[in-house]
Amino acid sequence: MDQNQKKKAAAEAALEYVKSDMIVGVGTGSTVNFFIEALASKKNMIQGAVSSSDASTALLKEHGIEVFDLNEVASLDIYIDGADEITKHKHMIKGGGAALTREKIVAAVAKTFICIIDDTKHVPVLGKFPLPIEVIPLARSYVARELVKLGGDPVYRQGVVTDNGNQILDVHNLHIMEPTKLETQINQIVGVVTNGLFAQRGADIVLTGTDKGVIKE
Ligand code: A5P
Repeated sequence: MDQNQKKKAAAEAALEYVKSDMIVGVGTGSTVNFFIEALASKKNMIQGAVSSSDASTALLKEHGIEVFDLNEVASLDIYIDGADEITKHKHMIKGGGAALTREKIVAAVAKTFICIIDDTKHVPVLGKFPLPIEVIPLARSYVARELVKLGGDPVYRQGVVTDNGNQILDVHNLHIMEPTKLETQINQIVGVVTNGLFAQRGADIVLTGTDKGVIKE
């Protein structure tokens, strides 16, 4: 199986968690795109979805799935999203697609975070994938200098504007031994909107597409 087939298999396995009348929290990225296609087969039994990005919203609507504003929804049973890296503790780096802030918000509301990935995303230690940080544009250089003090090597993601009108710094060369602590430290830098560490609210269930089928943890 190639990487896309593994992503698709993981995405389709997540359908099992979609129950009647649910509003489903939907993430962003190529794996989630497979999930949205699969979710369309259940569109008549669910109420709809809450989306974490303009791109996912467009795809959900294209498939005839109603998209609710998160403010209209009191609770969400499940949130389904991919990851750029994940550890055995289910801590993740996310934000490769620049949607980290809305992803973190929707994930915070959901009772269960179901992470759908191919088997290349498992790592012993987070940080080989550059850690995305969404910043207020005015604060970009200041935040970058503060990130250097934390041992990282921030690079401005040129030409990218997030759905919230902000910019992204990708922090290279981190070897993240304490993701929960670093998540807090980065959030305390003035001008940071969100960082791509999902450790304080990690995944609950991980569905990994492999050559041997989908493995559930
Ligand atoms: C989007 O900002 C990211 O958090 C994605 O969830 C992550 O990059 C995984 O993307 P793929 O499913 O495309 O690998």
